[in-house]
Amino acid sequence: MKKQILVSGLRATSEPHIGNYLGAIRQFIEKQDDYDCYFFIADLHTMTTPFEPKELRKSSLAVLADYIALGLDPKKSTIFLQSQVPQHTELAWIFNCITPVSELQRMTQFKDKASETNAKSINAGLLNYPVLMAADVLLYKGEVVPVGDDQVQHLELSRIISRKFNNAFGKVFPEPKPLLNKTARVMSLTEPTKKMSKTGGAGILLNDSPEEIKKKLRKAVTATDAKGKSAGVDNLMGLLKEFGTEGQYEFFQSQLKDNTIQFSHLKDALAEVIANHFAKFREKRAKLLADPEYLAEVLADGARKAQSIANKTISEVKEKVGLL
Ligand code: TRP
Repeated sequence: MKKQILVSGLRATSEPHIGNYLGAIRQFIEKQDDYDCYFFIADLHTMTTPFEPKELRKSSLAVLADYIALGLDPKKSTIFLQSQVPQHTELAWIFNCITPVSELQRMTQFKDKASETNAKSINAGLLNYPVLMAADVLLYKGEVVPVGDDQVQHLELSRIISRKFNNAFGKVFPEPKPLLNKTARVMSLTEPTKKMSKTGGAGILLNDSPEEIKKKLRKAVTATDAKGKSAGVDNLMGLLKEFGTEGQYEFFQSQLKDNTIQFSHLKDALAEVIANHFAKFREKRAKLLADPEYLAEVLADGARKAQSIANKTISEVKEKVGLL
């Protein structure tokens, strides 16, 4: 039977943290055998918020090393850099011409980012961000898209765009569905009502050393309100469930119940299991980053494979819309 097509990407920002890992990347690795997979580094999306050319270059390669060190296999999956497959932007332009601006203006991520920025410096790329995302997925006729829950609304728009295109010009595209994971959202260690982010030491990066992990966890907030219900503790227990053993989880859970828990013990246990979980990753990542030739080869090979599919879709689209 033909495998379903799965497409997903990560932005080339600074290093991923354990929330990115549990929310998206771990699923990429698990799905490689069951789907026909396309994984890319969304370097063009990275340009929608302020960026430095030097950093962009560096973090694009770092995300690639992360992908491979975590277990994405270039022999099984097509792994590439978005900007090295120009058909993404070509399709995005065509999609821009059938996407109502009103749909883009109601996107939560746009509204959030725009409210952080002074109105005059909001760039058009930020507004059109989800249109490029639709192109990323539909260029490969992606059916399944593993994403964190913050991207579900963008995927809904991909389905709207797909439907609009098919209705106007004839059926070309499927309607991609999000593949959500069961893991709870990972929250900031110091402000556990907010999502974990990469900045401010509130997020544990995959590449953090065991000492760094311990230090960050020691600063984690545990009791955020007096009624015994604490977002900080829930977050730590959620992480222990993911990274620790069942025995450990039950041990601390029962201590929580009879109120004998010492949070410093929970934090240190958690630091140890997280550090161990990523020990091999840290080693492999360092080796990969020391071998830029290999990384360049993976990208060239991935771009070639991606382009051969992308070209077919673009030909089909051009034919449908009347471009010669
Ligand atoms: N916007 C996604 C994020 O921030 C990254 C992304 C870009 C993506 N294009 C995509 C994810 C296409 C899935 C499919 O996480």
